[in-house]
Amino acid sequence: MDSRLLAMHQVMLADHVRIDAYDRALARAVRPGDVIADVGAGTLVLSVLALKHGASHVYAIEADPAMAQLAERIAADNDFRDRITVVQGDARVARLPRAVDVVVAELMGNLGPEEEMVELVAAVAKRNLAPGGRVVPRRLTTHLTAIGFDGEGWGVWREEHLGYRLDAVRAAAPPGPQLHFFQRDPVLLSAHVPVAVSEIGVSRAGRPAAPGRLRVERAGELHAVMGHFSAELADGVVLSNFPSYPGCNWAVWTWPIKHTPVLPGDEVLAELVPPLSRAAARDATEWRLDCALSRRRSA
Ligand SMILES: C[S@@+](CC[C@H](N)C(=O)[O-])C[C@H]1O[C@@H](n2cnc3c(N)ncnc32)[C@H](O)[C@@H]1O
Repeated sequence: MDSRLLAMHQVMLADHVRIDAYDRALARAVRPGDVIADVGAGTLVLSVLALKHGASHVYAIEADPAMAQLAERIAADNDFRDRITVVQGDARVARLPRAVDVVVAELMGNLGPEEEMVELVAAVAKRNLAPGGRVVPRRLTTHLTAIGFDGEGWGVWREEHLGYRLDAVRAAAPPGPQLHFFQRDPVLLSAHVPVAVSEIGVSRAGRPAAPGRLRVERAGELHAVMGHFSAELADGVVLSNFPSYPGCNWAVWTWPIKHTPVLPGDEVLAELVPPLSRAAARDATEWRLDCALSRRRSA
């Protein structure tokens, strides 16, 4: 089995904030006796949480054949085989033997849409969700924010920070996105601006459709535009990869730009551009940002 794939699942299982959020959301969404579809079931953690909250049966849909085989073993080892059925195949075409009351998925990418959760859950819900059924998460939002790094990452190319000039390094660094776990929160120069909001189970596509206008709210030095997601799992349960937290398995996407002093009222017009191919779009470092700064007019 691919050890990088297993390492990825290990990191996801070790993200306690993520597991705890799904635990609380499923406690609200699952009613005693419910039948559940777990889309992209992996190591079955969401299936097992659904059983814990009273589900009578879970259909655990997993596309990766090796992962599905492993899920079968996990179900057998834990005597779940009468309550968890592993369905190997692409969720887009999965037909389950009966209607389900809840569809649950954790397919969020660093920016939100890379793993096509909105599309996959819509496909499963359309074929299999009973009228009045519920989806977890129910909303996925991608946000863009104008930031200054607080002396980490791209911000260290600031000469005053180290006492000598590093402009040459800054000029040599090729443009492109970086994935970043913040040790120190960046300076937020604008609000988090939603550029894609998808109602899960209803929306068909989760990709950003329009540019964001990031209005600068405080004077500072603009270093990057940051992209992150927030997923509303249930009433009062929101999971997000910003601020970074210990054990968080999602880095934050950043698009470094030339260090530029900005003032309140300046505006960064920023548009996320996914790559053309669906396969490439699964990788957040293949996404680009088109952006331009418009200056506040002086009175
Ligand atoms: C981010 S992991 C989540 C695993 C597990 N649900 C958890 O929360 O730990 C996503 C899983 O979805 C599977 N997957 C991706 N695309 C899929 C598709 N189109 N149909 C079914 N499974 C898919 C992947 O193989 C992977 O195991």
